[in-house]
Amino acid sequence: MTTAGTPALQTADPQQIELPEWWRQAVVYQVYPRSFADADGDGIGDLPGILSRIDHLRELGVDAVWLSPFYPSELADGGYDVADYRDVDPRLGTLEDFDRLVDALHAAGIRIVVDIVPNHTSDQHAWFQEALAAGRGSAARERYIFRDGTGPDGSEPPTDWVSVFGGPAWERVADGQWYFHNFAVEQPDLNWDNPEVRADFVRTLRFWADRGVDGFRIDVAHMLTKDLTEPLPSRAELESLPRDGHHPLIDRDDVHEVYAEWRAVFDSYDPPRAAVAEAWVDPARIPLYARAESLGQAFNFDLLEADFNAGQFSRIVGSNLLLAAESGSSTTWVLSNHDVVRHATRYGLPDAERGEDGRPVRKHGNEWLLSGGTTPQLDRARGLRRARAASLFVLGLPGSAYIYQGEELGLHEVAEIPDAQRQDPTFFRSPGEDMGRDGCRVPLPWSADEPFFGFGSGAPHLPQPSWFAEASASAQAGDPTSTLTLYRDALALRRRLQTAETLEWIETGREDVLRFRRPSGWTVITNFGTEPFDLPEGAAPVLTSAPLDGGRLPGEATAWFDAL
Ligand code: GLC
Repeated sequence: MTTAGTPALQTADPQQIELPEWWRQAVVYQVYPRSFADADGDGIGDLPGILSRIDHLRELGVDAVWLSPFYPSELADGGYDVADYRDVDPRLGTLEDFDRLVDALHAAGIRIVVDIVPNHTSDQHAWFQEALAAGRGSAARERYIFRDGTGPDGSEPPTDWVSVFGGPAWERVADGQWYFHNFAVEQPDLNWDNPEVRADFVRTLRFWADRGVDGFRIDVAHMLTKDLTEPLPSRAELESLPRDGHHPLIDRDDVHEVYAEWRAVFDSYDPPRAAVAEAWVDPARIPLYARAESLGQAFNFDLLEADFNAGQFSRIVGSNLLLAAESGSSTTWVLSNHDVVRHATRYGLPDAERGEDGRPVRKHGNEWLLSGGTTPQLDRARGLRRARAASLFVLGLPGSAYIYQGEELGLHEVAEIPDAQRQDPTFFRSPGEDMGRDGCRVPLPWSADEPFFGFGSGAPHLPQPSWFAEASASAQAGDPTSTLTLYRDALALRRRLQTAETLEWIETGREDVLRFRRPSGWTVITNFGTEPFDLPEGAAPVLTSAPLDGGRLPGEATAWFDAL
């Protein structure tokens, strides 16, 4: 459907689906399946639900969809605790539903990327259950990381290490041994020195690639391999060790032996399957993951940690384009995902306090997120205004752009979740300090006047706030000023203006205004400040995130020009 003032939609050409390097400048839409659309009314989003909303994705104009895990899971970590890598959670559908979804997406010219979680399994995985039953010294325990405890009776953990989600990184089992988990207790780490583990993941990759999957997102790609030679270092020693490729747990050089093997698998398909690494590593080491011999592309998460600030944005763009050039890959722009506070809300909060390394140290207590909460108060209108400007800035950049479900509706973080209904382990490990990630995972509002905002016929697994009515897709679809219309227009124009993967910065005379030009002439100007910016004489934008003020770009706004 086109709306007033909207250029005719150009959808992806199904004939182009074979292009080998389609991912380089793709717009990839992240679906968090349990919260996207619920077809069977059990309150949990499912694969038939996604199938029923393909029109939304086609009208939006995305090139690919990335599905967060939809595999059988006890949901100790939102599905990132996988009990079976080669099946669909029965609450989400069947393998036949998956095949239907792949076919329907491909028919709409949209590729599909699935999430692979190789660092850990669920504790419900058959392998872990076997390891528990088989006992110490067994081959089944060798697939994981089991150790004896310390202290006279072994009742102390092997080390004082802490998990990423907080709390001890070791858990004791009935016979007294301990297993290692980087994340939740229910997510035992696999032993990547074990050839059986390696062979099984190759089987999983082939399983999905054979079903027509176009690419893979690799969860915590920097943590798989470990050096656990005794004596193990203490937590303090571990934290002081450099992350130079030889750290015992993080970003080890030898992880790329795994990816070299995977690369051979990806390249055995025509077209080769793509992959993108989720690797939270020193930026200088990102190219190792993004090289063609390794996964081929890596996430750049710098904008997730940046304020809405011209200096920070220009430094991040510059450094990531250089890193991408170094690896021969293209970069990825991410403003929101299922792990962070939505950017419309982040940008409505005061700028982050920063540690010595420049990274934000602020934790979001809930009172920060509720509109009208205690000081410092969230300014929702400002957050959305800046989010629209930042999104248009990012969608004009070279490389691929990731959109997290609901960001095309300008959704804010949902703060109104009672503690009793929260699900995220990070909340339970540090209650009150870290509100966890449920607030960006609330089931989507599709319609203003259907039950549960059109998500499904049953009460959703996380409660939806009343303001979802005006944020819903149906409320926005016909409105030329809505965020949904802005995204649709931007993606259609991006397809038309797309060009080589470079940009040229153009001086604006103002520190808080950035201007860049792509080789086709496509030009983006973003005003990060609050004072309006005088546009060049006669310049007529093809798209803006906010109405122009005469010949001036208002504060906290972006304009696109097809040639300037
Ligand atoms: C990644 C996922 C996150 C998950 C973690 C453990 O960071 O994005 O959601 O909790 O891995 O699998």
